[in-house]
Amino acid sequence: MSVLQQSHRISQDLTKRTDQPASLDFDDIQHFLMSRPPARAARYEFLSFRSGVGGRAWLTGLIDKVGTAGAVGSSLLDARWVTVGFTWNGLQTLGVAEASLANFPEEFRQGMAARAGVLGTTGANHPDHWVGGLASPNLHAIVVLFARDVAERERCRGEHERYVAQCGGVEVLSSLDLEAIPPFDYAHEHFGYRDRLSQPVIEGTGMEPTPGSGPPIKPGEFFLGYPDEEGPAAALPQPEILSRNGSYVAYLRMQEHVGAFRDFLRAHGETPEQQELIAAKLMGRWRSGAPLVLAPDKDDPKLGADSQRSNDFNYAKMDPHGYGCPLGAHIRRMNPRDTAANMNRRKMIRRGGTYGPPLPEGVPDDGIERGIAAFVGCASLVRQFEFAMNVWTNDPNFHELGNERDPIFGTQDGTFDMTIPKRPIRKKIIGLPAFTTIRGGAYLFLPGIKALRYLGSLSDGV
Ligand code: HEM
Repeated sequence: MSVLQQSHRISQDLTKRTDQPASLDFDDIQHFLMSRPPARAARYEFLSFRSGVGGRAWLTGLIDKVGTAGAVGSSLLDARWVTVGFTWNGLQTLGVAEASLANFPEEFRQGMAARAGVLGTTGANHPDHWVGGLASPNLHAIVVLFARDVAERERCRGEHERYVAQCGGVEVLSSLDLEAIPPFDYAHEHFGYRDRLSQPVIEGTGMEPTPGSGPPIKPGEFFLGYPDEEGPAAALPQPEILSRNGSYVAYLRMQEHVGAFRDFLRAHGETPEQQELIAAKLMGRWRSGAPLVLAPDKDDPKLGADSQRSNDFNYAKMDPHGYGCPLGAHIRRMNPRDTAANMNRRKMIRRGGTYGPPLPEGVPDDGIERGIAAFVGCASLVRQFEFAMNVWTNDPNFHELGNERDPIFGTQDGTFDMTIPKRPIRKKIIGLPAFTTIRGGAYLFLPGIKALRYLGSLSDGV
């Protein structure tokens, strides 16, 4: 069954809906998807439980450090923000009953590595090549630490190392340190694009969407147990204490081949201006963040930096043929705005950061791994994340393009193209190289705080 069909089936399965209050339980929901902390450093640790009792002991001692949505902005969360998530195998090892495990969604039960066919993560992106034990069934949990700065990250790293050594029940399979890249006055990634410009606003958080971003999205699109864009809250995996206020996240470690990216720009643009335009056509925004729909011919850095204007555009009315923003550009794929149906059921919350040192301009690639390691948060991996991967990223015929994949992030092997609509003659780039490689991934469940306590209180063989 294709992801499209599965996604349709899932939306039909949501018949068992209950009337639940729409107000969000800020003291129970982990802060992770609710806010973006002002962190310059991070560390992700990937853990395996030696036993259920060991995992539960580790978790119980950690719960008070996990940030809640309610604590965002308070002094409790001023320097470091901790998040905990579990794979399905992790929940099983912690002692969740088989009957309960069975009613978690199939894609979560299988895990990201087993979904490679659906996701289109083939070739160099295939789980066979992943690092850090992420494709292993022994991956049970992740701790995400966002820290104000590197010094605070290092302090927390030492603290967790001592804690893990003392409780003895868990093994650190691997870890990844992340740091923002300078200049620090705006978020950007290794290719040089301004990042964190567009994200869904959740109804009930009090946040106001910026112009052009549409109304706030119902909380049930991101947190289990709340009304979603289809109606009252969908049925929850049981027991409710485990699933309510939880979310799913897809983790991806994405290496960025900065040298290859710059070589490509030079090969396809004779002047620095032409190279910038090519970079903008791949993304749909200039590296400054200015969207091509609003600034089709020339960069406009002030527009890119102005959050009140940088999302105030659509495609169907303002750029139907893609003369500004190509149909295959990354942002036009990942949020087709008014050119796709059901968009409010496909929104995703992105969290993460850059890892590895920046590659200075003008020097050849040094072979050091650098990239983005990010989480995509949602209430349905199949309807939101997997749809984005299967259709928007890797379906060669998306938007009837014929033989194209996402130019930034699609599984590229030199056999897919990129069309840049233009009058009088469109430009077609034949055989795009891969600018990114997936080095690992995982599906995780981020439980609410009560659920963490419940997990900590389980025992084996129940
Ligand atoms: C190395 C890989 C990637 C790079 C370099 C990258 C870079 C970017 C940049 C620079 C933007 C524009 C800034 C913004 O709107 O926040 C963007 C937007 C976006 N990206 Fe990515 N991205 C990558 C992978 C992904 C993945 C894996 C997903 C989800 C499956 C994703 C989903 C999105 C979405 C939803 C948007 C917002 C589009 C909009 O609302 O207009 N990206 N990305």
